[in-house]
Amino acid sequence: TTAPLAAATSTLVTNIATLVTNDHDAVEDAEDGLLGLVRDAAVVIAGDRVAWVGAADRAPAADNRVDAGGRTLLPGFVDSHSHLLFAGDRGEEFAARMSGRPYTAGGIRTTVEATRAAPDERLAANLVRHVREALRQGTTTLETKSGYGLTVEDEARALRIAEEHVDEVTYLGAHVVPPEYADDPAGYVDLVTGPMLDACALHARWVDVFCERGAFDGDQARAILTAGMARGLVPRVHAGQLGPGPGVRLAVELDAASADHCTHLTDADVDALANSRTVATLLPGCDFSTRAPYPDARRLLDAGVTVALSTDCNPGSSYTSSMPFCVALAVRELGMTPDEAVWAATAGGAAALRRIDIGRVTPGARADLVLLDAPSHVHLAYRPGVPLVAAVWQRGTRVL
Ligand code: NIG
Ligand code: FE
Repeated sequence: TTAPLAAATSTLVTNIATLVTNDHDAVEDAEDGLLGLVRDAAVVIAGDRVAWVGAADRAPAADNRVDAGGRTLLPGFVDSHSHLLFAGDRGEEFAARMSGRPYTAGGIRTTVEATRAAPDERLAANLVRHVREALRQGTTTLETKSGYGLTVEDEARALRIAEEHVDEVTYLGAHVVPPEYADDPAGYVDLVTGPMLDACALHARWVDVFCERGAFDGDQARAILTAGMARGLVPRVHAGQLGPGPGVRLAVELDAASADHCTHLTDADVDALANSRTVATLLPGCDFSTRAPYPDARRLLDAGVTVALSTDCNPGSSYTSSMPFCVALAVRELGMTPDEAVWAATAGGAAALRRIDIGRVTPGARADLVLLDAPSHVHLAYRPGVPLVAAVWQRGTRVL
């Protein structure tokens, strides 16, 4: 399992007690099983890539050497769902919810008002602050969305800012119908599929829609996603957050990369996902922060559905940027094993973004690595809330 060492500087990371590769086929020394673990392992980084992976006693020489101190190395977390182009704060709304007020999509409009009023520099600074916050917790790839602008100009500027700072950018003009279109939702769908799409398509890879009662129905969602697809965007869908609906089956029908939330699923939804390549992305931070029931990951996994975990980081329904927190919730509340949750937060997120260069530690993969101050990855769930991230490499560069 060697890839040609580039002329770039190489670094040997050795004395790794537990290495999560997520691909036992690609690594000779890996154990069978979901995470393709290697015990007493080493990794060689060359330039921005992983060049060699295996047992420490077989490791090749490299220019530099890092002693992992008998700790755990895993792929950087892939957070495939966030909403970080926003201004303002909704702490009061959270407090009201915790005293009994229900969560509704209506809160989004509070953030829309604050976001429209914010200058570009403030939006960019807020995004960068959250990207760094996520990085400190081991997130090396982020997807983020527009959706708090909801005018042609405000959506386009959100995406222009996003593409400067994150890897994966999603056009979510169809987050909710803004107040100025309250009496003309069809007119808003025309805007989202027409002039707004024209202004946004070049700045995004993905098109998303909040398909839910109070946001967009199945027919509207189909029109929005297919319009985006006609412009080369790949669909992903907010589905089944507040109740069951047409979103999951629509996602599967359109071969969406992911159906996100999946808190409320019918048996037909689960069947549809199981017979598709659409990933179910579960967002337990959202269910936590809205005091909603948790999705049943066990049901999905037992049916053969690919599951990803993500933060959904946004100022309303899930104001956490912490993938370790989501892993802990997934294990305690969603019925996942620690191995399944760690896979879902790394390789699962990569699958939800249709990426094979991230979410694994194998020769040729991007060298996005997290060193945990723990003997194994199980500690991510076993020690909830504890800052275990000791070091982070992004594209081969030590960033923390
Ligand atoms: O994914 N579901 C829709 N959008 C966000 C909520 C955004 C908000 O409340 O501001 C979500 O949970
Ligand atoms: Fe979301």
